[in-house]
Amino acid sequence: MYARITGTGSYLPPQAVTNHDLVARGIDTSDEWIVERTGIRQRHIADERQSASDLALEASRAALGCAGIAPEKVDLIVVATSTPDYIFPSTACLLQDKLGIKGCAAFDVQAVCSGFAYAMAIAEKFIRSGSHRCALVVGAEVFSRILDWNDRATCVLFGDGAGAVVLEAAETPGILASALHADGSYNEILSVPGNVCGGRVIGSPFLQMDGQAVFKFAVRVLGDVAHEVLQHAHMPQEAVDWLIPHQANIRILQATAKRLGLPMDKVITTVDRHGNTSAASIPLALDVAVRDGRIKRGDNLLLEGVGGGFTWGAVLVKF
Ligand code: ACO
Repeated sequence: MYARITGTGSYLPPQAVTNHDLVARGIDTSDEWIVERTGIRQRHIADERQSASDLALEASRAALGCAGIAPEKVDLIVVATSTPDYIFPSTACLLQDKLGIKGCAAFDVQAVCSGFAYAMAIAEKFIRSGSHRCALVVGAEVFSRILDWNDRATCVLFGDGAGAVVLEAAETPGILASALHADGSYNEILSVPGNVCGGRVIGSPFLQMDGQAVFKFAVRVLGDVAHEVLQHAHMPQEAVDWLIPHQANIRILQATAKRLGLPMDKVITTVDRHGNTSAASIPLALDVAVRDGRIKRGDNLLLEGVGGGFTWGAVLVKF
């Protein structure tokens, strides 16, 4: 038994905020600085009434529609998010309710920007074990809610959005290999150290980051984990049709592609239009490239992410 992607979907909130808009709002930055250091030109920001489960719902409906699957057929929902609607219930349970279904397993995965790779690897194991047949795997984030909009070093980097895939049991692959890792000793270089105590937030509820340390760490582990899954699947790197990395920063994407010996025209990039949408960035990029016709059935896709924790992971897919 294998797990195959049978549908993809994504959703971006309508409000696009350009770098020029940020300058107009009084942030001490410039379009030139942001584009040169990150490749980001704009990001989408959710309306204050929208939460992660709302974004997840739109992406899920699109993925289910693409797969031609009724929501009732879903028997597992895994949502990767670090910006859930509530501490609990999980965003996956809220999504299940919004989809109008009951009874199937539903839970969240918290691995920050590697969340979607983690969620895919987990869902695949449920399907391969035979216990489940149709998983909805979602990355959904409203990072705009955990940014200090006075901190130019972090607020320009992120955006909101959601992406989803339907993963179904199949007799042919499917997911070919996956690898997941974490090293908690790097917890301090990227964190939101706030905590809820007595109904109040203790510590900082805003994202904090050592940008240069993150950069070096990300490039190293993204290269390593890509080689690891290729080895698992006995696939030469030339056989990869598309690299779909977490969209943190164009320079991280370029350095990773270089380490893997892949030309940039084999790398799906959306960071210029979406910014860094954390767990949503991989399924968003996947869906963009499926819908614009670049990714075709039978292509070999290498999905990989790295994020706070630190966590990192990769999933090799025969689409
Ligand atoms: N606009 C203008 N100037 C800025 C801005 C800004 N938005 N942000 C910082 N600066 C200034 C700094 O104050 C500093 O000024 P100074 O020299 O007068 O002190 C100068 O720019 C250089 O700052 P650095 O932090 O050294 O800039 P750096 O070249 O490292 O670039 C960046 C910062 C883009 C964050 C880089 O470190 C990076 O790409 N890191 C990777 C981090 C990342 O992508 N994180 C995403 C989350 S993690 C993940 O998704 C895996």
